[in-house]
Parts: sequence; C-alpha cells; structure tokens
Amino acid sequence: MASKLIFIFLFIFLSPQLQFLSEAQNWVQAGYWISNAEMPKKDINSALFTHLLCGFADVNSSTYQLFVPSASEPYFSNFSIIVKRKNPFVKTLMSVLIAAGNSVSDENVNGSVLSSMVSDSTKRKSFVDSSIKTARRYGFDGIDFIWRSSNSGNLAQMGILLDEWRIAINSEPRQPGESKLILTINVLYLPTIEMGIPYPIDSIHRNVDWAQIRSYDYHLPTGDNFTGLHAALYDPSSDVNTDFGIREWLNRGFPPDKLVLGLPYHGWAWRLVSPQDNAIGAPSSGPAVTMDGSMGYKHIKSFIRDYGYGAASEYNATYVVNLYWYKNVWINFDDVETVKVKIAYAKEKGLAGYCAFQLSNDDNWALSRAAAQEGDNQENKHQLLLKIILPVSAVLVILVAVAVFVLYYFRRRKPKSEEEMVLRSIGSPRIETSAAENFGSDAHLLVFKFAYIKAATNNFDSETKLGEGGYGPVYKGKLPRGQEIAVKRLSASSSQGLVEFQNEVSLTARLQHVNLVRLLGYCTEKEEKMLIYEYMPNKSLDLYLFDPIKRYRLDWPRRMRIIEGITQGLLYLQEYSNITVIHRDLKASNILLDDELNPKISDFGMARLFKKDVYEANTGRIVGTYGYVPPEYVTKGIYSMKYDVYSFGVLLLQIISGKRNACYYGHDENLTLLEYAYELWIDDRGAEFIDSSLDDSSSPCKIMRCMQIALLCVQKDPDDRPSMLKVFTMLKTDSMDVATPKRPAFSVKAG
Ligand SMILES: *[C@@H]1O[C@H](CO)[C@@H](O)[C@H](O)[C@H]1NC(C)=O
Ligand SMILES: *[C@@H]1O[C@H](CO)[C@@H](O)[C@H](O)[C@H]1NC(C)=O
Ligand SMILES: *[C@@H]1O[C@H](CO)[C@@H](O)[C@H](O)[C@H]1NC(C)=O
Ligand SMILES: *[C@@H]1O[C@H](CO)[C@@H](O)[C@H](O)[C@H]1NC(C)=O
Ligand SMILES: *[C@@H]1O[C@H](CO)[C@@H](O)[C@H](O)[C@H]1NC(C)=O
Repeated sequence: MASKLIFIFLFIFLSPQLQFLSEAQNWVQAGYWISNAEMPKKDINSALFTHLLCGFADVNSSTYQLFVPSASEPYFSNFSIIVKRKNPFVKTLMSVLIAAGNSVSDENVNGSVLSSMVSDSTKRKSFVDSSIKTARRYGFDGIDFIWRSSNSGNLAQMGILLDEWRIAINSEPRQPGESKLILTINVLYLPTIEMGIPYPIDSIHRNVDWAQIRSYDYHLPTGDNFTGLHAALYDPSSDVNTDFGIREWLNRGFPPDKLVLGLPYHGWAWRLVSPQDNAIGAPSSGPAVTMDGSMGYKHIKSFIRDYGYGAASEYNATYVVNLYWYKNVWINFDDVETVKVKIAYAKEKGLAGYCAFQLSNDDNWALSRAAAQEGDNQENKHQLLLKIILPVSAVLVILVAVAVFVLYYFRRRKPKSEEEMVLRSIGSPRIETSAAENFGSDAHLLVFKFAYIKAATNNFDSETKLGEGGYGPVYKGKLPRGQEIAVKRLSASSSQGLVEFQNEVSLTARLQHVNLVRLLGYCTEKEEKMLIYEYMPNKSLDLYLFDPIKRYRLDWPRRMRIIEGITQGLLYLQEYSNITVIHRDLKASNILLDDELNPKISDFGMARLFKKDVYEANTGRIVGTYGYVPPEYVTKGIYSMKYDVYSFGVLLLQIISGKRNACYYGHDENLTLLEYAYELWIDDRGAEFIDSSLDDSSSPCKIMRCMQIALLCVQKDPDDRPSMLKVFTMLKTDSMDVATPKRPAFSVKAG
C-alpha cells in the first residue's frame, strides 16, 4: 500500500520533469580503466561516472574473433558487477583496441590483422558476432572500438564494418531486461588522419552512440626536439590544439552531441637543453623522468611535492594547461583548473560529455571529482538541476520519512552501512572508544574499528591527507579525546592473507626504538589494510632540507643529531633487533621529525609486510624511489643490507648539501648529485658542496668527514660499502681512519 502511494507521488512530481532528467542523464562522464592497471577495480569510484570502459580486448589473428587475452581475463571478469556496486546506474563498455603499431599499447594487435579483418566480409562477421557475444558474456552494456590505422583503404572499410556492427547490434535477440548494446568509437582529435584522408564521418555518425576524441598526446618528448603541449585546448599560433580539432569535426557536419571530449590523466616530461630556456617551444634533448617522458597525474603530483614545501605548477589560461619545470625537467599536464575549463568548454560547445584516459592515474579522484562537479555547475547555470532537484528531493524526504519509520519502528533491523556504524560508534560510548584510546606506555597493538578511523579522519577527507607514500595515502586523524594519529591506508596490492598480515604487523610492532616511528595499531575491516602510527608534528626532513627558509632551522649540530639518529635507527633494524629489516625506501621524506626535530624512520616495517615489490606498482616504471636505489638492484634485482647503506649515503649527501638528487649540478649542469659530490671531493673543493645556509662556524672538518663517509656508502660495488656498524663507528670516532671512496655508482640517470 505504502509503495503504491510512493509511486503515485513519484509520478505526479516527476512526469513534467522527465525530459529534463533524461537530458541531464545524457551528459557522458566516462573513463577508461585498463586491465593490469595498479588500481583494483573495486577501488574505482564509479559514482563519479556514467560510463566506464574496460580495456582492452583483442582480435585473434587466425579466426578474427574477438577475445579477452588470458592475462586480462581476471580484470574483465566481474568488472561490471563490481563497479555497479557503488553506482548501479553506471554503464560498462568493453574496449577493443585494434592498433597498427604505436600509441596506447604497442604490444597489441598488429596492423595486418586489422587490414585483413576489415577487408573481408566473413572475417568482419566473425569479429562483429564474437564482439557481441563476448560483451554479453562479461556483462558489459556496450562496446568501444579504438581504431589506429593510417591506411586509407582500411578507413573506407571501417565505414562498412560500422554499418554491419550496427545492424548486428540492433538485431541481436536480447534477453528480457537487456538493453541494446552501446557502440562507441575512439578517434583522433582531427576528423582526418595522415595526409588529410577523412574518417568515414557519415558512417560514424549513423552507427555509433558517440565518438570519443583522443584530444591529447599531440606533442611528445620522444618525437619533438622542442617542448610542446600535448593537450592544449587553444593555441594562438598553431592548429595543433583541441579547439581546432573539435571545430573541424563540427564543420564537417558531425553532430556535437555525438562528440565526447578526451581528458588525459597523464602528462609528458621533457628534458630541457638549457634550464634557463623553459618556454613552450624551448629546445629539448628528449624525455625526462621516465623512459618515454610519460607520467601519470598521480606521479606528477608526487614528483612536484617531492621538490618541497610550496612547489606548484603554473596554470596558463592562454593554452589551458598546467606547466611545471625545475632545472631541466619540463612537464605539461592537466590539473584541476585545466580540467574544469575543458569541461566548461565541452558544455558550451554542446558536446556529449567527456572521457578520461585513464582512471588509475588520477590522484585520489581529484581530476574525476573536478570534472564531475564542473559538469554539475554548468548544469546549474541552465537551472536544469534545480528543476530536477526540487521535486526529487521533495519525494526523497517523503521516502526517507517512510523508510525511517519502517526501519526503526517496525523491523528494528541492524544498521549496516558505514555511515550508520560511524554514528553508532560516536553516539554510543560503549563501542570501542575507550579501548582504542588507551594506548599507554605498555599497551599492546590495538585493533581499530574501521568506522572509528573513518570518523577520526573525517571520512578520509583530502584536507586531512598528509601525503602519499609508496604504499598508499597517509591521513592525519584526531581521536575523540584529542590524540593525533597518522593513518596509512595501504593500497590493496598485497597478496598477503589477513592472518599473515596481522602476524607481520605484530612482529613489526615489536620493533621499538626511539628513532623509529611507533606503530600503534591496525585495522583490517572491510578489505582495508590500515596502519595507525603516532603523529609526527614536524612532518618530514625533506620539508626542511629543501625549503629556502626552513633549512635555516637545521644548523650543523642539529643535522649531526639527525644523522646520528638515522644511523641508530638503521643499526637497530640491521643488527640489534631480533629480525633483520631491509628498509629499501630510505629517503628524506621517510625521515619524520618529532616536536624536537629528532628523526624517526618511517615505513620500516613495510619491506617485511610486502614481500613482493610494491614499489614497482607505485611509479609504474621506476623501481624504488628515483635516485636512492643502488645499481645492483636496478640491474640484477639484488637487495641486501647494503641497499639501505647506499640510500643512507645519498641521504647523508643531501643533509650536508641541502640539495635534491633528481637534479643536475656542476658547471654544465650535467652531473648527478653523487657525481658532483665526488668531483668536488676529489678536487679538494668539498667545501663548495656544503649547504650555504650552514654558517661559517660549523665544523668544516667534521662535515668533510661525513661527506667522505657518505661517498663510501654510495660506491658501485656493494662489497666496498661499509656496514652500518662501521658507519656508526666512523661517525663516532674522529680518530678512526676513513678509506678513500671510489667513484660512486650512477645507477639511475634521468631520461
Ligand atoms: C586463435 O584461435 C585459434 C583457433 O581457435 C587458437 O588455436 C589460437 O590459440 C587463438 N590465438 C590466440 C592468440 O588466442
Ligand atoms: C566472479 O564472481 C563469481 C560469483 O560472484 C565468483 O564465483 C568468481 O570467482 C568471480 N571471478 C573472479 C575472477 O573474481
Ligand atoms: C601480424 O600478423 C600476421 C598474420 O596475421 C603475421 O604474418 C605477421 O608476422 C604479424 N606481424 C607481426 C609484427 O607480429
Ligand atoms: C631532432 O634532432 C635529431 C638530432 O639532432 C634529428 O635526428 C631529428 O630528426 C630531430 N627531430 C625532429 C623532429 O626535428
Ligand atoms: C601562457 O604562456 C605564454 C607563453 O609562455 C605566454 O606568452 C602567455 O602570456 C601565458 N598566458 C598566461 C595567461 O599566463
């Protein structure tokens, strides 16, 4: 009876608004998710999207049937079910990549397979029929087709293929409740490919639900000798820009409401020939930072953060791009401002929506959220949302009232959702609050409730985020009685079982030393793995060393105390604890400082917790943290205690010089930090290496001795490097001889 009443309400309120509703729903908010991406599908925030594209399916070169490669099978399987848990309205598409070499993924299907498939009607049929079957088998709502061929003959046949595909989709015998498959295509930013040959525009228009424009990767550091923008919306001096491409599509009669703007969640890093010339169009000698210069948005943000407090990219409204450069690294990418302007542009042009490439590069959903919000704001301007929200919320109020009534007075069901749990644990003091706060001096490891951590971090609000390490984001939390904690929310890359994880955590918790950050407890509820640490108010060492002002707070005696503290901590991990721990990610940002600026090593248990290499998952290409990794690991994957000795040496050089190790030094700015230190030291000019913020009264002899010890630690051959015990003795005993270092290892060169 009640439900009938609600139905009538709904109908009366909504029927005049239905066309607005459907108009609003037509706005496409899509994103590609690529199998083997570092982000598990269950972490996809599908609430921010209307369509999710799962890539990539392949074509069999003998049967021309579409298939999901066996390596991608676990990613495709259940994709739809899993992403629909968070948003039942999201539509999923299976993306098929048929590439003739280059771009997105070179290792995919070869060009002759494509030519051969499209030129033969039997083969086309085999492909089309199998694509529909495969999409249905995996529960997808549609198919996306990425075409990469510059063969003009193929283009004409592509038109035919699309016609046949449309007919097959329309005539598919569907199960009750199944809707017609969506068909989309991914095309270049211009309606023509090489040499002005146009796409079969009429066929595309006729047959697809929409076309996603690949409005990025225009200029790449591997191809161009001058810096260029890879995804400029405008360019006053060239036609290579998104606005030009879109206008070309529209000029050729392609309807705007079938065009979807591409949003890159990545940027490109160039190596400048001269750091002084950092303009757009400056001479470049190739890619920087990664092998081909490609960097995911998340990676770019952490790269910029690593340069220290306050470093930021610059937004340029002429081109609509974010730019960041430091010394000879020059990066262009889309940050939040850029994304917002592009969405507003898409709305203004009447386009169908946007499609991000690709989701796992987003940083805590910052770009996706900005895109979704900007879409809504634009809608507001047309007062569309208002027209929908008012009646909908009126109905919702009634529904909620009825639901509350039913739930609490009749059924008295137990609350299930996370929100309800938080409310309960805050509202009723019986639950866990006292236990979790009693971590006194001798307390055992605490098991925190998820809801409790969620409340303490204000639902993992980005405001409370302290940073992002190799193992996931870190949040600052405040327990109800005021204690501050740091919460490390591990990314789900561990293959470890729950019990194993808990054992490891307990073991790690027994490592207690004044120079190690203290672990208070953990939380393993809801498929989460979180570690709860004491909060360090002064954050990390890098924020002091590389900051033009704060570095003055670290005079030499204080730096010496920091060096001694780190040495003690490492010594404990290597020699004096009952288990040997190789840290493998020792770096300035992992040295936290307490309220008296005493150092504490963080993340020290991680190497044990994660036996497999999660580092690789963090950056994609670079193993470990750029510049701290010894050569034997890079080339052979060997790690030993000498791994940490190497990283310690790099850190020591940074503490002495206040210099970063991702930059180039020396007269020609072509020496790595290690080479530079060595050259100066061997020339007896070591004093030039010392941080200029250390005043004259600092003890130069002691500093030179430290520098020599550091150079011993970064030698190429691990056997030549001293043990931590030896390092400790050399630092302590001024009379002890220090060997002459050999030339340091140049393990990782930029580019
Ligand atoms: C293509 O299909 C043939 C015949 O079914 C099969 O033997 C072959 O393994 C398939 N190739 C791939 C790469 O799946
Ligand atoms: C997909 O879901 C089914 C049932 O929900 C489950 O049995 C199966 O193992 C899942 N497959 C994968 C690869 O996760
Ligand atoms: C591409 O596929 C064809 C057969 O379809 C094969 O003969 C050729 O060797 C393949 N080319 C490459 C580069 O794999
Ligand atoms: C870039 O410079 C290299 C060598 O100087 C040259 O071989 C190459 O053709 C140049 N590329 C472009 C796109 O100008
Ligand atoms: C964008 O960059 C160009 C070239 O560096 C410069 O001329 C222009 O003034 C910049 N525009 C804005 C709005 O900063």
